[in-house]
Amino acid sequence: MTEISQDGRSWPHREDCRIRTGPIAEVLDEELLGSIPTSQLLLRDSGVDAAALDPLRSILARRAALIERVVPGGAACKSPESWQQILQIFAEVGLDRGGLVVVAGGGSVGDACAFAASVWHRGVPWIAIPTTLLAMVDAHIGGKTAIHLGGIKNRIGSFHLPRAVVSDRAMLESLPLSERAMGWAELIKAAWIGDPQLLESLEQSSDSIPVDLIPRSEHLAQAVAVKVAIVDQDPFEKGPRERLNFGHTLGHALEMLSSPTMPHGEAVARGMVFAARLAEQIGEASDGTAVRLATLLQRASLPTDCSGIGLESLLETLQGDKKTRAGQLRWVIPRRPGEMVVRPVAIEVVERVLRFPPLEAIVNPLT
Ligand SMILES: NC(=O)c1ccc[n+]([C@@H]2O[C@H](COP(=O)([O-])OP(=O)(O)OC[C@H]3O[C@@H](n4cnc5c(N)ncnc54)[C@H](O)[C@@H]3O)[C@@H](O)[C@H]2O)c1
Repeated sequence: MTEISQDGRSWPHREDCRIRTGPIAEVLDEELLGSIPTSQLLLRDSGVDAAALDPLRSILARRAALIERVVPGGAACKSPESWQQILQIFAEVGLDRGGLVVVAGGGSVGDACAFAASVWHRGVPWIAIPTTLLAMVDAHIGGKTAIHLGGIKNRIGSFHLPRAVVSDRAMLESLPLSERAMGWAELIKAAWIGDPQLLESLEQSSDSIPVDLIPRSEHLAQAVAVKVAIVDQDPFEKGPRERLNFGHTLGHALEMLSSPTMPHGEAVARGMVFAARLAEQIGEASDGTAVRLATLLQRASLPTDCSGIGLESLLETLQGDKKTRAGQLRWVIPRRPGEMVVRPVAIEVVERVLRFPPLEAIVNPLT
C-alpha cells in the first residue's frame, strides 16, 4: 500500500488518507486522487500565486470539470462570517455529494475550508495542498478542522481527514520569509518530540537551516513523518497527541495577551523554550536543554524569550487556561529529544521561571 514519490517519501497514513512530499506534477496521480468526482472545486488561498497552481489545475481538469474560487488567506477566514461564505461558494457552484474539494492554502484556509467540507452534505472529501511550511508539517496533517467563535480561537470544528495531502516545496517560494520562520517552529518541534536524528541533522551544519528558510526535502519529509506517526497513534486526540502541544501552554497565553496577536510560530517557539526551562527547574531535563533548543530556534530567526509581556497578566491568563486541572496547569515537558512527559506544575514554580532573565543573554552573550 505504501507508494514511493519522487522525493522518495510517501505514507499510507490511515487507510483513507495518503500523504506525499514532492513536486505536484510528479507525485499527484490517479491513485492518490481516488475515484472520479462528479464535480471538483479548487479553493485557492488569496496569498497563493495563481500560476503556482498550474500543474495542479492541469491534473485535476483531466478528470472532471474544475471550478476555482479564491478564499481570503490568513486568520480572518476563520471567522464564522467567512466560513459561511465558503459554504455559500459550495451552494453557488452546486457541490453535490459526489464532489471533491481541493484546498490550496495555509493552515487558516485549510482549517476553515475543511470544516466547511466536513459539514457539507454531512461530509464531502477534500484534498490538501498546503502552501505554507506550517501547514505542510502541522496544520494539514491529522484532520483537525476549526474556526474561531466569540473571540475564542478554534472553538468549533471537527475531525475530517483529507483524502490526500501533497506538500510541494515549490509552494514556499512566494511565502514571505517571516511566514517560513513560523513553520520552522513546528518543524523544530517535530524534530524535538519525535525524531532525535532529524534534530541532530538540523544542529550539525550551518546550512541545515538554509538562509531562505525552505527546508531540505528530506528534512521536510522527516518532520511530516513525525506528525503522521503521532496522529496515527491517537487520531482523536485522546492521549499521545498531547505531545504536539509542546510549547503551546505558554504559547496560547502569549497569543491571547498580545495585540496584534503574536504569530503562532513565534508564540510556540517562546513556549517551547519556556517549557524546557521549566523542565530543568523541576529536575526533568538536564541543564543546557533550553539553551540547545533556543540556539536552533534562533537559527531559524525565531524569538525565544517572553520580554515585553506583563508577568501578572500572563499568570492570570495561564491560570484561566483550559488545560488547568485542580489549580495546576499541565505542561508538555521535554525530558530529552524524543522523550516528552505531560506534568502538572505548581503555578509558583511557573512564576519563578517566568522571572528568570531572558535566555538570549546566555545564548548570545555578546548581543
Ligand atoms: N488543524 C490543525 O491541526 C492545525 C495545526 C496547527 C495550526 N493550525 C492553524 O493554522 C493556522 C496558521 O496557518 P499558517 O501558519 O499556515 O498561516 P495562514 O494560513 O494564516 O497564512 C498566513 C499568510 O500566508 C499567506 N499564504 C499562504 N500560502 C502562501 C504562499 N504560498 N505564498 C504567499 N503567501 C501565502 C496567507 O494568505 C496568509 O496571508 C492557524 O489558524 C492555526 O490555528 C491548525
